[in-house]
Amino acid sequence: MKRLVVLTGSGISSESGLKTFRDAGGLWEDHDVMEVASYDGWLRNRDLVLKFYNERRAQLSAALPNNAHKGLAELEKHFDVRIITQNVDNLHEKAGSSNVLHLHGILTGARCSEEPHLKYDIGYKPILPGDKCENGHQLRPDIVWFGEIVTTIGDAADIACTADIFVVIGTSLVVYPAAGLIHYVPDTCPVYVIDPDLPDIPGFRNAEFIKAKAGEGIEVLKGILANLR
Ligand code: OAD
Repeated sequence: MKRLVVLTGSGISSESGLKTFRDAGGLWEDHDVMEVASYDGWLRNRDLVLKFYNERRAQLSAALPNNAHKGLAELEKHFDVRIITQNVDNLHEKAGSSNVLHLHGILTGARCSEEPHLKYDIGYKPILPGDKCENGHQLRPDIVWFGEIVTTIGDAADIACTADIFVVIGTSLVVYPAAGLIHYVPDTCPVYVIDPDLPDIPGFRNAEFIKAKAGEGIEVLKGILANLR
């Protein structure tokens, strides 16, 4: 089976009712990113950060995978599909995808604010001030904030290097190191980008753009991939 590597961003979950970050009406329009999604913001105002992610988690509990998440899961019948996602939702997993690597963490996880290896599955429950790990330290969301290390980036680069086909869906590709993954894709590998508002990708000489929302774009992609099995 050919290996299909897919890099996803918040745009793929937009049709599931979850907001993107930088589009008009996106999350960073109403929230100051450095206050709610940075380590310094956490030190300044822990309660605000917990509230922001508690709201995201509560919203996720009601969200369902859309046609794009489901389409990627179905492609496992014909391809060795590896998803690398910047998203902190669990909609790829809910759709049935079996190989999902999260670069920026996951909303349904908590971890100790002092000992990062102490991680807990919390489902959709809020993290409250005073909720502690087994060693008595405050819990925080298991999210990678600005200013923190993306520990899964090496694994993601290894996966990108092995792509037979590479697909990008719903990301503006402005946040590093995730955006740098495109430079690990082999030169000979066909690349497809699904986005209604095409991102600027200078390194992608061979990219074919599918200018559409993810749910519709995945159908176009499936048609193309039927000839590449
Ligand atoms: P952005 O908000 O930067 O980009 C969203 C992309 O999705 C844009 O290119 C949109 O055109 C596209 N888009 C919008 N609606 C879509 C749809 N229905 N179908 C397909 N594409 C659509 O979000 P990301 O690139 O995911 O990090 O942001 C990357 C990182 O920045 C996030 O993981 C987050 C954020 O700050 C952290 O919080 C650490």
